[in-house]
This record gives sequence, C-alpha cells and structure tokens, in this order.
Amino acid sequence: MACSSAGIKPHGYKCMSDLLLSVEALAATYNHAIRALSGVSLTVRRGEIVALLGANGAGKSTVLKAVSNLLYAQRGQITEGQIHFDGGAVTTISSADLVRRGLVPVLEGRHCFHSLTVEENLIVGAIGRDARRSEIASDLDRIYALFPGLKQRRKSLSGFTSGGEQQMTAIGRALMSRPRLLVLDEPSMGLAPLVVESIFRTLKQLNVSEGLSILVAEQNSTVALRFADRATVLENGRTVLGGSALELRQRADIKALYLGSPSESAARVSSSSNRAVA
Ligand SMILES: Nc1ncnc2c1ncn2[C@@H]1O[C@H](COP(=O)(O)OP(=O)(O)OP(=O)(O)O)[C@@H](O)[C@H]1O
Ligand SMILES: [Mg+2]
Repeated sequence: MACSSAGIKPHGYKCMSDLLLSVEALAATYNHAIRALSGVSLTVRRGEIVALLGANGAGKSTVLKAVSNLLYAQRGQITEGQIHFDGGAVTTISSADLVRRGLVPVLEGRHCFHSLTVEENLIVGAIGRDARRSEIASDLDRIYALFPGLKQRRKSLSGFTSGGEQQMTAIGRALMSRPRLLVLDEPSMGLAPLVVESIFRTLKQLNVSEGLSILVAEQNSTVALRFADRATVLENGRTVLGGSALELRQRADIKALYLGSPSESAARVSSSSNRAVA
C-alpha cells in the first residue's frame, strides 16, 4: 500500500518505508504459565529472506505463530512487545485478514488436507482472496511451473504423496494466496537433502524474480544461511545474535552455538562479541 503524503495511512497505518515486518521485544507464554519467549526482536525488509535459527525449543515456531496471529489457537499469549506487518499491529488483525494483506504462513508439519487432491489443496489457497476462476487457473500454472513434480501428482490425494510433495503442496497453497511475506516453519524437516535444496532454490527464485519476502525458521542452518540475506538466532526464547547470512556463515561457532546444550550456548554467547541484533 502506498503511503499518503503525510506518511500516515488511515486506521493508524504508518508508513514504514522498506520495513515489512518488525518484532520488538516480544515475550509470550502458553496457558498464562509457560514462558516461551522473553525478548525476541527481528525485522524483515521488503525483498529479504530472513532465517530464524535456533535449537529445539528455542522459540522459533512460537515467534512465527505470534507473527501470524495464531498463538491464541494454542492457548498462547503475547505478554510484552509489538509486532507490525506493513505498519499495522498484527494483534489487531485476524490471521485471515493478515493472509489477505499478504502475510501467509506455512506452519510446522506441512499441513495438507489429506483427503483432497494436490490440486484441490492448491485451490484452497486462492479461496481466501476470492479469486476468479481464470486467476486460479493461471496461478495453478505458475505453481506447476515452480514445482513440476506437483503437476504430475495433481490428481493424487495429498495423503498419498511423499513428504517432499506435501511440503511443496503446502508452499504452493500459500503462494496461491499471493503473499508478500511468506512465513515458513522448518520447510526442511524430515526431507532428503536434494528435496530441501530444490525447495530452497525455488523460494530463492521467487525472492529474486518477484521480490517475495520470506521469514523462514530452520534448524538446518547450513541451507538456511546459504539462501538467506540475514539471520536471527534464538536461544531459550531470546534473540541472542543477528546479522548478515554471509557474516554468520563465516563464524565457526554458530553451529555449536545454537545446536549446543543451553548452558554451553549461554557461555558462548556471553563470551562472543556482541553483534547488532537484526
Ligand atoms: N502449545 C504449547 N503449549 C505449551 N508449551 C509450548 C507449546 N508450544 C511450544 N511450547 C513451549 O514453548 C517453547 C518454545 O517452543 P517452540 O515450539 O516455539 O520452539 P522451536 O524453536 O520451534 O522448537 P523446534 O525446533 O523443536 O520446533 C518450548 O519450551 C516449548 O516446550
Ligand atoms: Mg518449531
């Protein structure tokens, strides 16, 4: 959306130049008891791929759910901090409206409707934006061009397709919503390296050719840092490190840092030079 001359949009929208998503000092709990996040900050600028890295339980999925305003569905609460997407406060916008505005999540577990065909799953992604038939047909062609394997499987029930095909279907369905920011939770999970490579290449292609912005949570830092522009590392619900993917790739301690035990990681973080947090 273009900014008005005064830089202020109606309904409290504020022009935020190239900043598409900002998460500031976010804290969150589950069941008003379990503290999952206690200080997460990150940004995604238009046209960027940002990787969210961290070990099991670091809080990656919680951040992505919060960003998509889906935390409440798992009895989660944001207790502190702010999230803005395209200048609007995410907590005031329903998850369905966020999708319509271009923030489209593909959450953990490559959720497909197993009793629908691959093509029906893809079409579900277009329904939310009230797409016309002709638009749906051309968007399907586009998805099949990006993921040729899905075209061959388009009449198959998703429940009978491979893990890689299900992940591509879930991403394809999100793309059918015409996102501006794709929010992906561990697209590599449980998939063979070649499939992971192919999925990330396709995402990078979309990023380069169409300027699609992507926030991707990954435990696979090797692949994520190869394709991302910047990365933010979480540990125990906090942002502990951030910077360009190139810089982070060159740091020998990153893998040990975020894959190590909490105590080892904490020691490394405090002894490592403090970097600007993204
Ligand atoms: N639905 C839930 N109810 C209660 N606690 C939860 C729930 N989901 C996550 N948690 C807790 O919140 C913390 C952060 O979990 P989260 O799933 O966000 O981490 P993660 O970085 O995505 O981990 P993983 O790599 O295993 O997916 C963990 O301590 C986890 O046990
Ligand atoms: Mg997770």
